[in-house]
Amino acid sequence: MGASSRPVRAAGPARPRPTTPAGALAQAHRIAEAVDQAWHTASASDRIEIPLSVVAALAVRTPDNADERAWVATQLTDTDDDGLLGFLRATWQLFAHVRPDLFPRVALLAAPWFTDPAPDRDLLRAVRRVVDATLRAGLHELLDAARYDIDLFGPLLSVLRTRGARAARGQYYTPPDVADLLARFDGGMPQAGERVFEPTAGTGGLLRAAAQAIRDAGGDPRTIRWVALDLDELALATLAVNVIIWDLGPQVLIGHGDVLADDWQDRALRERAETVAVAGRVQQATRALALLRRLDRTDSDLP
Ligand SMILES: C[S@@+](CC[C@H](N)C(=O)[O-])C[C@H]1O[C@@H](n2cnc3c(N)ncnc32)[C@H](O)[C@@H]1O
Repeated sequence: MGASSRPVRAAGPARPRPTTPAGALAQAHRIAEAVDQAWHTASASDRIEIPLSVVAALAVRTPDNADERAWVATQLTDTDDDGLLGFLRATWQLFAHVRPDLFPRVALLAAPWFTDPAPDRDLLRAVRRVVDATLRAGLHELLDAARYDIDLFGPLLSVLRTRGARAARGQYYTPPDVADLLARFDGGMPQAGERVFEPTAGTGGLLRAAAQAIRDAGGDPRTIRWVALDLDELALATLAVNVIIWDLGPQVLIGHGDVLADDWQDRALRERAETVAVAGRVQQATRALALLRRLDRTDSDLP
């Protein structure tokens, strides 16, 4: 989901770039702290889905190419409020278009930019602070150097939530090095076409580690059928974004519900099928509209 247009290398301060897994983890924590501080300094709102949505949009629109990354960073830093809002809306529309199967889960992150036609200027000021803090703390550099090694959203969700609320939810995510060890010692390596199920997935740290173990063993995580479940909708929304960051492939089912109840899987399959069907109809309608416009132009060209 990279941005396109002619890149121009941006001048500006060098941003941190990790060189070791420990450095990458430390940088993910620094980004989380920087975002938390930017958000809470500029806004009294407890709508933490907003900073999560901003970081998620920046992450999925991080280009592979260094010149393009520099160009995107400059554009985002220089744009006005309308430009920022346009970037966020376009990003979530693109997400819905490319991965309608995951959209039921990320809808929580997309909604803030569509429910209100003209969001509050104070809110957009806080959003700008989050964008600047995220880029300054080196999100682009971290993703370029270590996208498969870190879970951006585990630390971010933890820090954005109050300590008390986090403890009440039992949300202390497994550190990546421990998750990596578990993935390597926990039974046999999943093979192409097999199902990997994480019943208390959170932001997906154990899935990330499993995908890395599969890659290290010469396999391809995109061939696995990933199934994840959790009670926490916001964690699941970021897991759906992590699916893109970690390149887990097209066979992903993310359910919201209680592992002790038995209806979550049917519900998740139904939601996914409905969203994919709606996306298909929207795409058909868009194509039909484009055709009509072309015909209309051709008609008006006739003598
Ligand atoms: C300690 S976190 C661990 C997340 C992830 N597995 C990891 O290792 O990083 C536990 C997660 O389990 C989820 N959880 C707790 N009880 C659950 C239940 N009955 N059904 C589904 N998820 C549950 C919580 O919402 C939380 O996200």
